[in-house]
This record gives sequence, structure tokens and C-alpha cells, in this order.
Amino acid sequence: MANFNTRTVADSNAVAKAAAEAIVALAKECVAKKGSFSLALSGGSTPKTAYALMASEPLVSQMPWKQTQLYFGDERHVRPDHPDSNYRMAHESMLKTAPLPAENVFPIATDDADVVDAAKRFEKLLHGNFPNVKPGEFPSIDLMLLGIGPDGHTASLFPGTPAPKEMSNWVTWCDPNSANPAIKPPVKRVTMTTPVIWSAANVFVLATGAEKKPMLAKIFSESEPADAPVSRLLRKCKGQVTFFLDQAAS
Ligand code: 6PG
Repeated sequence: MANFNTRTVADSNAVAKAAAEAIVALAKECVAKKGSFSLALSGGSTPKTAYALMASEPLVSQMPWKQTQLYFGDERHVRPDHPDSNYRMAHESMLKTAPLPAENVFPIATDDADVVDAAKRFEKLLHGNFPNVKPGEFPSIDLMLLGIGPDGHTASLFPGTPAPKEMSNWVTWCDPNSANPAIKPPVKRVTMTTPVIWSAANVFVLATGAEKKPMLAKIFSESEPADAPVSRLLRKCKGQVTFFLDQAAS
């Protein structure tokens, strides 16, 4: 039985507001309990408005920025100032105005010529930031934000590639166009792996629009659909998974 919660609200702006408020509330709860909050952002377009709300009043002064460590669940293998960069999207919508100390932000470095090296570098960074994780175990990030792609991917774990099946590393790389030339943007990716998503204490999935409905139905269906989407992995999350959906996607 999947550990799923669903919050359905009217439209994408309401999804952004509900998600931003829930992120700040969880951050405050984590900081009150243990003095810190680790957050892994998702990319794409859906979360942009939620990030902007977090960096604006009233939420910006409620969010415990100084105790927050900010990660990226995945990143496109492009320069951080490239229009396709998830870091750039987060910077434009939130990081350039939120009072988050630069030393609390851990972008996935993409200046390595080779995406495999970029993945190894991010893996090393995560192991350094989560030093108490036993060998063979995985970090429990307080909150991972995820989206659902039209092909059923989540983070940058794309169907038809080896990435979703990587079960020992914390970070892997993916070349989505090797399996589906239509994937946009047509770039390689670095991504946290399936077991890291499973190990997160909380997962928020933001999905809006009617085009997400079929994939969500396949994630929610009790019986295993024939063409199970990669994002059905969410059913095995150890933590609480909360879907923030608009009416159209619900
Ligand atoms: C990415 C994202 C990706 C995204 C989904 C949904 O790097 O593109 O991390 O996993 O969440 O593709 O994207 P939208 O929210 O834009 O539909």
C-alpha cells in the first residue's frame, strides 16, 4: 500500500500556493525538531511559481533559510546560466531574492565535460554532506520535490534508460534521448537515484494539467499497469508522499 496523500486544489496557482505553504510549514517543523532542513528541488516549469512564493512575503520571512540546506534532485548537463538549467530556474524564481546563505546551496556542478564525472562529483558532495549514512544505506533528505514528466519520468529517471535501475549509487546520469529522441530539452542529465527518493523523509509531487492525468492514474492504480511508468517507484517511498494536484490533473 503506497504511503500517498493527495491535495487537490482548483488550478496551478493554487497548487503553487498550497505547496509553498506546505514546504515552509515542514521546514519550520524540521528546524524546531532537529535544527536543520534539507530540501531537494525539482526542475521543470511546474514548481517555478511555488519557488517565487517562498521568496516573497508572507512566506519568505517564515522560512528558516539559515537552517536550510538546498539541493537539486536533478540537473540538466548545461551551464548554470543556460535557459535549460534547473539551477537557473531556481535562481531566477527564488534564490536571487531569498535570504539563503550561498554556502547553504549545493548546485549540481555541470562544468565537467563529461556527465559521468558530474554525477560522480555530486555523489561525493552528498556523501560529504551526509557523513553518518552507513555503507549501502541512503541519505534521508527531509523533503524531495518531484514532478511527473509526460512520459512518466520523475527527477531525471527516464524510461528506457539505465538510470531508474541504479540502486547502489546516490547519484547517476541519464541520456533520455538515447531511449526517446523526442525528449526535450535534448540534453544529458544528472539525477538523484531511485533509492534516494525512497529514503527521503517526505516527498511532495507537484503535477498540474490534464496531460498529467494518465500518468497519475497509472501511479495510483492498485494493480500494476502493463506499461508502468518510472514514477510508479513513488509507491515504495519510505516517507510520506503528498501529491499537489489541480482539478485538471486530478
Ligand atoms: C526536470 C525535472 C523533471 C520535471 C518533470 C515535470 O529536470 O525536467 O526535474 O523531472 O519535474 O519533467 O516537468 P513539468 O513540471 O515542467 O511538467
